[in-house]
Amino acid sequence: MLPDYWEYSLPTRIVAGPGVLKDLEKEILAVGCKKAFLITDKQMEDLGYVDRVVSSLGKVDVVGVFDEVTPDSEVRLVERGAHLARQAGADYLLALGGGSCIDTAKGINVVMNLGGSLLDYQGFNQINRPLHPLGAIPTTAGTGSEVTQFALVLDRDQHSKITYLSPRLVPSLALLDPEFTLSMPPLLTAASGMDALGHAVESYVSISANPLSRGLAAEAAALVFTHLEKAVREGKDVQSRLGMLLASNLAGLAFSNTMVGCAHALAHALGGIKGIPHALAVGLLLPAAVLFNGEGSGYLLYEDLTLRLFGLKGKEAPRVLAEKIRQLMNRCRLPGSLAEAGLTREDFPAVAEMALTDGAMYTNPREAGEEELLGLLEAAYRGNRTSG
Ligand SMILES: [Fe+2]
Repeated sequence: MLPDYWEYSLPTRIVAGPGVLKDLEKEILAVGCKKAFLITDKQMEDLGYVDRVVSSLGKVDVVGVFDEVTPDSEVRLVERGAHLARQAGADYLLALGGGSCIDTAKGINVVMNLGGSLLDYQGFNQINRPLHPLGAIPTTAGTGSEVTQFALVLDRDQHSKITYLSPRLVPSLALLDPEFTLSMPPLLTAASGMDALGHAVESYVSISANPLSRGLAAEAAALVFTHLEKAVREGKDVQSRLGMLLASNLAGLAFSNTMVGCAHALAHALGGIKGIPHALAVGLLLPAAVLFNGEGSGYLLYEDLTLRLFGLKGKEAPRVLAEKIRQLMNRCRLPGSLAEAGLTREDFPAVAEMALTDGAMYTNPREAGEEELLGLLEAAYRGNRTSG
């Protein structure tokens, strides 16, 4: 059934394909900017990616390179980067790296333009003035942060990831060049791909889903099932790398508008409390979330998706989807349970309590209280190795 009302916004210009780095200078000049500040990490330096980007920029001055980003974007790091970007007189921010680099760049953009602490702008729609244009070159394929209105930034003092949500955080340019993802190691490739699949599947059944977001989410999920395993096993295969970059991007376009669900709520809490990597946590929780949301008449939420992906409709849809996700994780040699990922049962209550207040719970299609979240944790804790 079509909704009575829905909205969708897509403000990012997307340029995709092998070798599109050559277009970056033109793209920056086209929005009237000339002073780029690059936000990246040491690994990008070591791989030679920073040099490649800087030497592609021609008439655009690189007024600073901030290469201190850590695997988790952090509040203090963002504030330091903002100070440097402002001092350098940057009029364009360029993020080169995984989700943490792009989220750090979003945070830097806020603080350098609005002042104060990043913590002043946490939550929903707290950014009330325009920011600088931000270009993003993702070097992982999972977060979709290059097109989303979210940033997740760790506050070490509170041991929690703080969510920032505003249309002003959406990058103005996403440059999807698979050549920047060829060096991603197999485990990171696999886990990141499961994050993209989590965005796609949770967006598909979100209470805010609409025909446009569902089309994007279904295509993203199909791309993951087609390309992830090969991207993991043959890392230099440009086509599967491009397939996964697009999967991540399309899933980002979908969930930026619809939000996600209970697998993400629990994954956020597992990241904050136990430091379990987000993407891995999402992958491990996703089958349990699908089975939970798909109980009873919930199968109706999934059957168009499983028809598209596996040619199957009906009450078996959630079970089949959950099983296919587990099999894919297995083939990609990811851990099979939250127990293997380092969770203990003593952690369950704190994780469930934190997840209950996570924004991702609001768009989950089935209401879940503490008891239900504990049940989801138990299922993902036990996991299920399959023969697939
Ligand atoms: Fe995610």
